[in-house]
Amino acid sequence: MRLSMSLKGKKAFIAGIGDDQGYGWAIAKQLADAGCEILIGTWAPIIKIFTTSWDAGKFDTSRQLSDGSMMTYLKLYPIDASFDTPDEVPEEIKENKRYKQYDGYTVSEVAAQIEKDYGKIDIIVHSLANGPEVKKPLLETTRQGYLSAISASAYSFVSMVKYFGPIMSDGGSAINLTYLASERAVPGYGGGMSSAKAALESDTRTLAWEAGRKWNIRINSISAGALGSRAARAIGFIGAMIEYAHHNAPLQKDLKSEEVGNAALFLLSDKASAITGVTLYVDNGMHAMGVAVDSPSLKPAEEPALT
Ligand SMILES: NC(=O)c1ccc[n+]([C@@H]2O[C@H](COP(=O)([O-])OP(=O)(O)OC[C@H]3O[C@@H](n4cnc5c(N)ncnc54)[C@H](O)[C@@H]3O)[C@@H](O)[C@H]2O)c1
Repeated sequence: MRLSMSLKGKKAFIAGIGDDQGYGWAIAKQLADAGCEILIGTWAPIIKIFTTSWDAGKFDTSRQLSDGSMMTYLKLYPIDASFDTPDEVPEEIKENKRYKQYDGYTVSEVAAQIEKDYGKIDIIVHSLANGPEVKKPLLETTRQGYLSAISASAYSFVSMVKYFGPIMSDGGSAINLTYLASERAVPGYGGGMSSAKAALESDTRTLAWEAGRKWNIRINSISAGALGSRAARAIGFIGAMIEYAHHNAPLQKDLKSEEVGNAALFLLSDKASAITGVTLYVDNGMHAMGVAVDSPSLKPAEEPALT
């Protein structure tokens, strides 16, 4: 069996692209480089800023692919992954000026529209998260804030697999993006976001079983290291987290979003045909550490000789 990392002839829907700084963009780029056709899902309220920036050429440098051509997309879909069906959208959202000009942005409607436009697709990428109270410690998080974080950041993936599963080709593949705070305490990553990531990883395993048996599609997660994306900057301490990782991770280099894009390409390609239900760390090895380098246990005087 000869398997390839080429995605020629395949189509991917990537939900969670709002600019050229985040993981969704980096994944789109690696997939496009491998010949995949790209459908973008952008959060409805920020579509205008994204398309205006794209049209003004602000992303031109980052659109460059390895063969010198520019990344393009087939179509951009407004999405709000907190809603599954139109009847769930509250009146104040429908009437909000940043939503009013769009319809069909719930997960089921986006899947139905994509099927109408292109028939079956091969890949879905969930690169989105939202926790309105992310800056609050868990002890100060309200029930509503916690449930919103879980809804937008974890159930949204369940919903995507549920509605896109039937329109995915046999052997298709899906990934989401998670973070180490799901399994280790990361003070500052609050508002129930750590809980949402734990749910997302658990759902990855359960959905691997259910969607594997139902549609023969693979479901995986990438636990990515800290990156100064727009969403991460909103949390407020991302610079410190990047610096911390730089000092403490086994690999002492900046983590590039492209490295997460490469891992995503592998997981989404046929080369990973036997891999499902996995959470793959792409974080310069940060997850493996049990102590920080400034820990007193690592003081030179006490350091054992490495022979
Ligand atoms: N940046 C990091 O340090 C880091 C680390 C590990 C994992 N991640 C994860 O990577 C994924 C992508 O985030 P990013 O950091 O690249 O930031 P990003 O800002 O590029 O992407 C997040 C996207 O989610 C969209 N979004 C928010 N609420 C939405 C909703 N209800 N419906 C649809 N879209 C919505 C935003 O508009 C934005 O485009 C997220 O799941 C994030 O938790 C990020």
